[in-house]
Formats: sequence, C-alpha cells, structure tokens
Amino acid sequence: MNILGINAYHGNASAAVVCDGRLVAAVEEERFNRVKYAAGFPAAAIRYCLKEAGLKLEEIDHVAVPRNPLARLGTKLFYALRMPSFVRGRAKVLVKFTGVREALAGAFDSDPSKIKAQFHRIEHHQAHLASSFFVSPFERAALLSADGLGDFASTMWGSGSGNRMEIADAIVFPHSLGLYYTAVTQYLGFQKFGDEYKVMGLAAYGEPEKLEDFRDIVRFDANGNGNGFRLGLEYFVHHRTGPEMSWAEADKTPTLGKLFSERMSQQLGAARLADEPLEKRHRNLAASLQARLEEVYLGMLQKLAKATGLKSICLAGGVAFNCVANGKIFDATPFERVYVQPAAGDAGLAVGAAYFVWHQKLGKPRSFVMEHAYWGPGYSAGETRAAIESNGIAGKGYVVEELPEQELTRRAAAIVADGKILGWFQGRAEWGPRALGNRSIVADPRRADMKDTLNRRIKHREIFRPFAPSILAEATGEWFEKSHPSPFMTLAYAVRPEKRELIPAPTHVDGTGRLQTVTKEANPRYHALISTFRDLTGVPVVLNTSFNDNEPIVCRPEEAIDCFLRTKMDALVLSDFLVTRGI
Ligand SMILES: [Fe+2]
Repeated sequence: MNILGINAYHGNASAAVVCDGRLVAAVEEERFNRVKYAAGFPAAAIRYCLKEAGLKLEEIDHVAVPRNPLARLGTKLFYALRMPSFVRGRAKVLVKFTGVREALAGAFDSDPSKIKAQFHRIEHHQAHLASSFFVSPFERAALLSADGLGDFASTMWGSGSGNRMEIADAIVFPHSLGLYYTAVTQYLGFQKFGDEYKVMGLAAYGEPEKLEDFRDIVRFDANGNGNGFRLGLEYFVHHRTGPEMSWAEADKTPTLGKLFSERMSQQLGAARLADEPLEKRHRNLAASLQARLEEVYLGMLQKLAKATGLKSICLAGGVAFNCVANGKIFDATPFERVYVQPAAGDAGLAVGAAYFVWHQKLGKPRSFVMEHAYWGPGYSAGETRAAIESNGIAGKGYVVEELPEQELTRRAAAIVADGKILGWFQGRAEWGPRALGNRSIVADPRRADMKDTLNRRIKHREIFRPFAPSILAEATGEWFEKSHPSPFMTLAYAVRPEKRELIPAPTHVDGTGRLQTVTKEANPRYHALISTFRDLTGVPVVLNTSFNDNEPIVCRPEEAIDCFLRTKMDALVLSDFLVTRGI
C-alpha cells in the first residue's frame, strides 16, 4: 500500500512516500526550486518521491494532507469575527487546499479523475506528533509538538503506544511559544523567516538579565489545563491583526508580519533595526528570551513526564529545533531518551501525515524506524560524471580524480587535517534543514580561526552563529558531557571542559556543541572520513556545516560544483571523485 504525504501551501512545502509502512523518500520543495523554506505546492518533491518509489500517480492508494480546516472551528470563528483581513487570507489558502487533487494531477500533466487515492486531512499537530513517534525507536513514549501555529493550535501533547497516539490536550491561538520566539527575534532586528536560529546562537553571548520581564511576556497558565502557558498579549499584535503569514506562493520564501506590539519596546527598550549594531543589551535580551523558553518548555516536559510516567519523549514542531533546550531535557526532566526526527519543523508534516494514515487510521503495526536522514535525491556515477564534464571544471585549473573508496576518504581526511575546506557530497540528500554528512562542508575542528575562515570565505553569515561538530558516535561520552545519540543535530551538549580547547571551532561560546553523532550503520563513508581524521589527528570530530552559501542546501552535483567554485573551497569530494586545485 502506497501513501503520499504532502505539506502544501505552507512554509517548508515537502512530500514523502511510505510504501507498506516503509519510508522510501522524503524531501523539501526548496531543494528543487532553490527558494529557501519554499511554500506553495511541492510538485517537484512529489515527482521525485514517486520516481524514487517507482510508482505512477495511479498507484498511490492514499494522499495525506496535514491540515484539517474543521479543526478548532469554534476558535477560528471567534477570531474570524474580529479579524476580517485574516479571514480573507485564510480563505484564499483554503480555496487552494480544496484543489490539492487538481494540483497533484497538474504536477503529472494528468487528469484528476485518474487519481484513485483516498484523500485524508490530518490535523497539523497530530501530523507533527506522528512524524516523530511513528518513526521513533520507542514502543511507548510521551509526545509534544510545539511551533508557531498550525490549524489554530500551537502546542499539543499526549502519549503513544504501539501504533496508536492518544492526544491529551492542546494550546490554541493566540498563545504560542513559536510566535513568542519569532516576535522577539523580530524585535531584535532579525526579520527573515527562519531567523530564530540566529537568535538562539546569539543567546549564548548574553546573560538573562531580563528574565523577570520575559516571565511576564510568557506566563505559566495556572488555571487552564495545568500544563500550559499564556502569552502576555499586550506585548503582541497577532491576536488582533492575525499572524500575517504569506504561505501561498511557491516562488517566494514565506514572510511573516510584525508580531510584537509597542508595549514590548516600552518594557525592553527600543526595538533594534536590522542594520543597527548588536549591543550587549541585545545579547542579554536574546539570553533572556532563550532562558524563558527553556523554563516553559522544560516545565511542560516535566509535567508531561509526571502525567505519563514514561521515560521516552518524542518531540516535533519548530520549537523542537531548539537544540539548546533539548540538550537540557536529561537534567531537567525525568526523560531518559529523546527522539526528534531531522525535519522536526513543518516539512516533517508530510512524513507525519502519511504515517498517521498508515497507523492511526488503517491500524497497521509498527515496522519502521527512521535511523538516518538520507531520504532525498541521490545521483548515479554516470550523472555525477556528466555534471563534472558539462561544467568543464577539469579545464579550469582543477584536478579531477576518480578514486576507490579507501583512497578517497584517506585523501579527504588528510585535506581536512591540513586545514583546508572540503566540500563533501555523496549519496542521497538529507531530509530536514541540517547537512548530516551527505551535503556538507567539512573542516578541521582543532583550528580556532576556522570559524572566521569559513565565514569569510564560504558561508558569509553572522559571526555569532556557531558551527557544529560531527563526532564518531562511539566517542560521544568521551568528548561531551552527555552520550545520548544525537544523529540529527537536534541536541546541544556541553563539550567536556578538558576537550574544549582541542575542538575550538565547533565549540560555542558557552562551551556547548550542537553535535551530530555518526554511526557506521547510518553513514558508512562519513564515519570512515571521521575515523581516518581521528587516526591522523587523535580527534574523532570534524566541523560540519551545510553545503550552501545563503541558499537551500545543494541537491544536485551541478549545484555542488557551482557552490564549490563560487565560494572557492579548497577541495571537493563528489561521490567517487576528488576535485582539487591544480598547482
Ligand atoms: Fe508546525
């Protein structure tokens, strides 16, 4: 039985195909149309998923769409009466939604009547929870989803057992930890969709001196369900104007209207404009924002642990990308095991909706665990060779060599140990926003100046943003203060103090690292690269950053070559080929 999950007309448009309970392919539309966080209808992603599965459109039995217009209808109507403009915007999206069948047929130049599949609408947060639990290694787990807003809710929790999830409760619009984080991100002068990461990185440079103020911006909810929070709404405007998200167009990165009110500036000082310098005050505000998020998030998890008595937690939603908060779960709550799948944000809804249908609706037993992130496009040796030849890179002063596996990793590890910057492209593209050793830029973690070098030469990003370490999974406990697996870079742990000076480049200013634990099973060639680097240097860690330069992560070999040439990396591993600069 074949199930197609589609996250459409929403940020991070994506598709996934599940065949007889096994995930076959999952990818974001941005990797194809090259628009970061692309919304719209993921036609290219769907075409790829079906091709990877060897399926025709007529062979899809179920289509799962992670939105249910009927969810929380009462709350929607309540706000609809107060926000006519918001309603008009939602109505436009809804009209598009009713046309998923037509858009799907259009993506294949087919007739809608040829689609035999049954269509399912899965509520946003239930799809988030399913995206984590049903592909987790846990038979039983507590579940939490937290994001900006989806189907008029921001937070949902419950528990999962076998092939069933039970929803305990939800927090609805306008109260949202995601919108809280985004509002303060905007206030701090970071206006772009997805900039919350930057502020999380900035937070480590400050002190949470304004924590008391932030306790008024997000308040514990003593009256309601006892596990929740409420926003101090005087600091926000979205409950009056509606969160002005523009999701609909595929050729645009989503944008979000202003979320914070004048009250926030009165309380915290003038909002920072994007081009103003970042001062100590801003760093302290970022730290206060993060500290309050952690209090509320970890507080919710504590209560969830108590209510369920479970030791495993599955997380999803944009807030689940807060790796700093996630890394504190082991000390702050009774949970002992954490699972966050690599596309924890809205892209992951495609996988979640598909698995919701397979287990929750059809009652099929569990049979799949997402143990790696490599569910996107891969390219054959012939395609890679064609990309190299059509670029003509060998005629541009570069040496191109096709090498056997061992020789390739040996040469690549030596290049990294020599302080050079290596583009590392192999296998199928990663699912989710993190490069995890198939579309990565790899560098020497031992060099304190590597962060500046990467920023200056390749990445062109804010200096306060950390780079991440990839570590051999078996060495995790020796180098970090926690050893629980973090295969998808969704947890940050403290680097052991005695090791910090050995890997200064991917160690953040607060002594933590947003690590990827690499196993031989999940990624044999990347594991071999790091192992060889360890043999050369004694350090089982490399610095890993995504293979891109202010664009979606490269997908095709052609894009990798372009990015390599444009950013002047020193060497490139492209499948079985090694590209180096000639003399
Ligand atoms: Fe979401």
